[in-house]
Amino acid sequence: MSGDLIMDSETAAASFADVRPDLEIFLSEALAGLGATPKTLPSKYFYDDHGSVLFEQICELPEYYVTRVEMALLKDIADDAATEIGPGARIIEYGTGSSEKINILLSALDNPAAFVGVDISGTALQGVTQELAKRFPALAVHAVCADFTQPFDLPDIAGPGRKVVFFPGSTLGNFAPDQALEFMANAASIAGPGGGMLIGIDLKKDEAVLNAAYNDAQGVTAQFNLNLLRRLNTECGADFDLDTFSHKAFYNADAGRIEMHLVSQCAQVVSLGGQSITFAKGETIHTENSYKYSVCEFQELSRRAGFEPLHGWTDSEQMFSLHYLSVAPQEAV
Ligand code: AVJ
Repeated sequence: MSGDLIMDSETAAASFADVRPDLEIFLSEALAGLGATPKTLPSKYFYDDHGSVLFEQICELPEYYVTRVEMALLKDIADDAATEIGPGARIIEYGTGSSEKINILLSALDNPAAFVGVDISGTALQGVTQELAKRFPALAVHAVCADFTQPFDLPDIAGPGRKVVFFPGSTLGNFAPDQALEFMANAASIAGPGGGMLIGIDLKKDEAVLNAAYNDAQGVTAQFNLNLLRRLNTECGADFDLDTFSHKAFYNADAGRIEMHLVSQCAQVVSLGGQSITFAKGETIHTENSYKYSVCEFQELSRRAGFEPLHGWTDSEQMFSLHYLSVAPQEAV
């Protein structure tokens, strides 16, 4: 496993487990994707230190309404969600890249007992968990640096309070429908009988609004997209010429998703891991899907995964939704 993360013993009441995918896994997943037709690269690899900073910049863009609308909605409904969740909660967050949302939730909760942050970017995760450990001294804070699309061990956070999976940001949108169902079913089993999930889901809306959100005027999303090739160059010794690939993002209405691609501007051959990868002029690498749901579609998905959707909240313009789902308590047999 890659990376040594040293905890500052003064500030870290937190445990830190590093189970990030290593270089060989990155290279083999990249070779598999670039060897396929059409070519793909996994979107989870956007988030190294540089990519995490770019993503934070995306969240501030005028066109990218997602984070702003979710934050405002979360502030509005945090007390209602906290009432639902109850005292002594144990929160497991997937994708702990910034502290803003989890701060709102933890501040609203009645004596939360434990927090586990899971993220693929170690630097972002370390910063957030250290901050939380300081801010909430009674909270047992744990960090797990992992690719949460793969199985990994969670630290033991046994206790009487409800176990709740927090999955904000509409990150579920990165999963294809069957993977989304599998992820949700896994979240239900992690929360366990009587547990719950608080999840943010971006809604289907006017295509022009969606297209603008992924084609910002400043080109930050383009830099974020190209970061995949930059990483392959610096970490895997590839020789992508970043100037010859351009960012393309559009809403695919039939599939209900934003697609991001990198388009080769010329016919060319790129070398990666001892292999030659041939691009035709105009050929694309499909780098991300961001599925959008209606409230009904998402509730249906959550039911199929073993949850009962108890509350769905949306902002007044129906841009974004937050959902509290509960796992039915075990039936006596
Ligand atoms: C973090 C997956 C929710 O799909 O909107 C932002 C990532 N990609 N701009 C999204 C992203 C391009 C984002 N998620």
